[in-house]
Amino acid sequence: IPRERNRNFSIIAHVDHGKSTLCDRLLQTCGVLPPNAPDQFLDGLEVERARGITVKAQTCSLLVTSETDGQNYLLNLIDTPGHVDFSYEVSRSLQACQGAVLLCDAVQGIQAQTVSTFHQAFEADLEVLCAISKVDLEHAQKEEVKRQLSVLTGVATEQVVEVSGKTGTGVQDLLQAIIQRVPPPPGSSTLPFKALLFDAKYDSRRGMVLYVAVQDGELKKGSKIFCSYSRRTHLATDIGFLYPDLSSTETIQSGQIGFVVVGAKDIRSFRVGETVFAEGGEKTGEPFPGFRPAQPMVYAGIFPEAVGDGEKLETAMQRLLLTDASVEAKRDISPVLGAGFRCGFLGLLHLDVFRQRLTSEYGVDVLATNPTVPYRLTLANGKEVVVEHAGDFPSPPQMPPKEVQEPLVTATIVCPRELTSNVQQLCVERRGEELSVEPLDNSGERVMMTWRLPLAEVITDFFDRLQALSHGFASFDYQPAGYQKVDLVKVLVRLNGDDVDALSFFALRDRASEVSRRYLERLQNLIPAQLFDIAIQAVVGGKVVAKVRIKPLRRDVVAQKILSHGHSGDPSRKAKLLERQKEGKRRLREISKVQVPPEAFVAMVKM
Ligand code: GTP
Repeated sequence: IPRERNRNFSIIAHVDHGKSTLCDRLLQTCGVLPPNAPDQFLDGLEVERARGITVKAQTCSLLVTSETDGQNYLLNLIDTPGHVDFSYEVSRSLQACQGAVLLCDAVQGIQAQTVSTFHQAFEADLEVLCAISKVDLEHAQKEEVKRQLSVLTGVATEQVVEVSGKTGTGVQDLLQAIIQRVPPPPGSSTLPFKALLFDAKYDSRRGMVLYVAVQDGELKKGSKIFCSYSRRTHLATDIGFLYPDLSSTETIQSGQIGFVVVGAKDIRSFRVGETVFAEGGEKTGEPFPGFRPAQPMVYAGIFPEAVGDGEKLETAMQRLLLTDASVEAKRDISPVLGAGFRCGFLGLLHLDVFRQRLTSEYGVDVLATNPTVPYRLTLANGKEVVVEHAGDFPSPPQMPPKEVQEPLVTATIVCPRELTSNVQQLCVERRGEELSVEPLDNSGERVMMTWRLPLAEVITDFFDRLQALSHGFASFDYQPAGYQKVDLVKVLVRLNGDDVDALSFFALRDRASEVSRRYLERLQNLIPAQLFDIAIQAVVGGKVVAKVRIKPLRRDVVAQKILSHGHSGDPSRKAKLLERQKEGKRRLREISKVQVPPEAFVAMVKM
């Protein structure tokens, strides 16, 4: 199929608006999937199925006959991930497209991600087609949601396609609209080979599989390619199309979406958005502009929950890191938690998915420490460093930093009008700055707000609070939005006079004593009383800002406990007690002779 009859498009939508169901239906309609294929074929990972969300983008080509000119067209569907954390992956897959289908649930109407993904597609200069999904549902508000989409995108309501992934309604209309409205990919078949790498996957059988959108020229199987990020040359051992499995061909050409298998093992030497040339082509060709490797925005320590699981974690991490180049990891040894890793993720969900994969795919239960964001520090000597762990923050007697900057996000929040002031209150509490409030529909029943918020405030319990105050009727999405100055201090926690770096955390200077007090009170409840006095202090810049004490167990209480355990006749109760004691052994860590439960390290998350 020549370039003029290729169409590269994505489907973008809010979580749960039916994207995966529609993709499956498109594949079935085009005969790529048998009619009885398992649900959500494109959602491959176990975690994705369990959570019903798409984490890693997958791609597939569909052969469709045009009803207008009777010709065959190759529609390349690039499946983008569907969650706030993965907006970077969404924007990078969009670079390989000329069009996007903005899908919106006909019952729920526009949600925050509908808005933010539309802006991404708009900024990428894509032709945006609007569609409403789940039109088979009884409560579908077709006309109302069409109006909302029209206001958001400027597309006429008559042009909004009605689809149902469940029944197949409208699927042909959508395919035809894509053929008619999405322009063919740009490029030239006579220029030397140049392609955009928009995804990469490690396959234990084949090696690295690179997903590319070919702009110019053609690539033959067995030739060599040059990758602009690593500046390395590789042999293309196999090439072909995604149908949706990898099907080999002899060449891939200008305008096509395909794959290239190379012998390399390290996914980290390939980055989405980089340019792939034919060997030597880099000398004369220009790489695609605007490339930047994904930046982690949320950091956390990952440690084995069971003390003896260090090796298991090591193996699991090595394998899992091969599947996800956007996770940064370096080894870390904590005096308390043992050998583990300090990791950077794109967002909180990314961290959560990673942790869950360690458990579900590799059977290692892990402990993730309180998440933090990357702060930019200008040191007293003028040097600039990025610090994401409070333990690394310079504190007296060293010189404090001259300036600290924190990452910001622009947040989109969609909610019922009557909740506006509650949401505003929450955002103000979280140091937000309001950018806009607009009605979403004619009736003004729902509003769309944009706020600038510090990321550090978003990664704590912001989303939980928003859900609670809106009873689940608010939706939320965010994009990175630069940095701003912040008055930050490191709070050091002292247990019986010993500094415990693993428990130290960042706080705003003017909130440090309040936050410290709350944290120490939590520790006071979490740390079991022991045979001696435990003093816990929070220290900022050498000064104690909060302190608590855990009184020792009285000797008679200890004796009574032993006595009552000994006399307990009920065998099931005894078994439970033994179980709990075993559990206790597994989970408690000793710091400065004090038994500290692992919860102490994650206690900050929900504060
Ligand atoms: P992410 O992968 O998280 O982005 O979700 P998604 O947008 O892919 O949504 P998904 O296809 O998983 O659908 C979400 C829910 O809506 C599922 O329970 C589907 O069964 C249901 N659903 C999807 N499409 C339709 C439809 O056309 N009609 C009806 N009645 N239900 C649908």
